[in-house]
Amino acid sequence: MKIRTAGRDDYPGIRKCLDIAFGQTAEGDIVDRLRSDDSDSLELVAAHHGDIIGTAMFSPTSAHLASGDILRGLGLGPVAVSPDDQSKGIGAALIEAGLEHFRPYPVAFFCVLGAPDYYARFGFTPAIERGWTWSGDDGSVAEMRHAFQIIIPRPLQASDGIIQYHPAFGV
Ligand SMILES: CC(C)(COP(=O)(O)OP(=O)(O)OC[C@H]1O[C@@H](n2cnc3c(N)ncnc32)[C@H](O)[C@@H]1OP(=O)(O)O)[C@@H](O)C(=O)NCCC(=O)NCCS
Repeated sequence: MKIRTAGRDDYPGIRKCLDIAFGQTAEGDIVDRLRSDDSDSLELVAAHHGDIIGTAMFSPTSAHLASGDILRGLGLGPVAVSPDDQSKGIGAALIEAGLEHFRPYPVAFFCVLGAPDYYARFGFTPAIERGWTWSGDDGSVAEMRHAFQIIIPRPLQASDGIIQYHPAFGV
């Protein structure tokens, strides 16, 4: 199994992996929109004997702080591993490779919407603990609050804020 950046030839395999892992087409549609917007995203795949068995995307996001500052960060997602290959460390390998890829760059934050029990192992913590929410959160679902998580790699002045995902996510 190899983790590498995605190329055009991988797109059908990525779509298949996303559709089967999520059991719906919404996440694949988001990835299509991110590509067609030509946004500055990182798209990684896990490939095994020519098959795409996992994928992870990092796309540009911004945090609009109460102080008036706007920070540039990266949203992780979608992440998917084909059901037959789950629980073999492939999801972790994709996420760690992505975080490692950006280590030399001045990324103010990474964010993800997902199960805290899974993402905590990569250093994600609930964004609400820092007073950060995201544009798709109307505050009505408590679990959503804790599912939205961030990593702030470098020291940052504390200030409440709202994170805006790339428009391809439609939130
Ligand atoms: C989430 C996903 C990408 C993880 O990929 P993976 O390759 O199976 O993950 P890893 O092998 O790195 O880690 C497996 C561990 O994560 C745990 N895990 C997986 N999904 C989890 C979840 N939603 N909540 C809590 N733990 C989860 C597994 O139980 C397993 O635990 P173990 O190590 O104690 O056995 C994969 O399960 C998947 O594609 N799920 C469907 C799509 C999805 O929900 N994507 C995430 C959206 S944010």
